[in-house]
Amino acid sequence: MIRPAAGADLTSLELLWCDYRVEAADGRLADPLDWRRWIMPRIAAGDVRVGLVDRMVTAYVAWQRLSARAGTTDRQLSILELYVHPTGRGRRIGSGLLARAIDAARQRGCSEVLLESNVRDEAVQALACPFGFHLRDDVLVLPLRLG
Ligand SMILES: CC(C)(COP(=O)(O)OP(=O)(O)OC[C@H]1O[C@@H](n2cnc3c(N)ncnc32)[C@H](O)[C@@H]1OP(=O)(O)O)[C@@H](O)C(=O)NCCC(=O)NCCS
Repeated sequence: MIRPAAGADLTSLELLWCDYRVEAADGRLADPLDWRRWIMPRIAAGDVRVGLVDRMVTAYVAWQRLSARAGTTDRQLSILELYVHPTGRGRRIGSGLLARAIDAARQRGCSEVLLESNVRDEAVQALACPFGFHLRDDVLVLPLRLG
C-alpha cells in the first residue's frame, strides 16, 4: 500500500533516511535536524509518499518541484530521495513510488522528471529505465509531453 506521508510518519521516515543516506551514498544532508527541516515542509506540501508492508512504513519517495530556469517556462520535478528498505524489496513498491512522482509531475505541468541520487546503480537504472528515464550527464531524466 502506498499513501501520502503524514507528520506521524516522521520517526519511521528518519530511520529509513539513515539507511538511504548510506546505501545511496547521498551526502547532501548529514544532520538529522537539517533533514527534518527539509522533509517537514515537503510532507505538508503533499510531496512525500510512503510504502507500507504489514502496516510498517518500509519505503518512501520525496520530490520537489523546481522553479522554471531563467528565460524558460519549463518546470522540473526532482525526485530527491527514493528508498525501499531491503525487507520490502522486490514487491514493486519502488515502481509504485516512482509512478506516484511521475503522476505528480504531470499534474503540476512539469516537462521533466529528474532522478539525481545513485543513478549509476544497477537496480536504480533497472527500475527507472522502463518508465522512459535515460541518463543525461549524472542525472536520470524522464521527458514528459505536456498538454
Ligand atoms: C532501487 C530500489 C528503489 C528498488 O526498489 P524495489 O521496490 O525493490 O523495486 P521494484 O520491486 O519496484 O522493482 C521494479 C523493477 O526494477 C528492477 N530491479 C529492482 N531491483 C533490482 C535489482 N536489485 N537488480 C536488478 N533489477 C532490479 C527489476 O526490473 C524490477 O522489475 P521486476 O519486478 O519485473 O523484476 C531499491 O533497491 C532501493 O531503495 N535502493 C537503494 C536506494 C537508492 O539507491 N535510491 C536511489 C534513488 S534516489
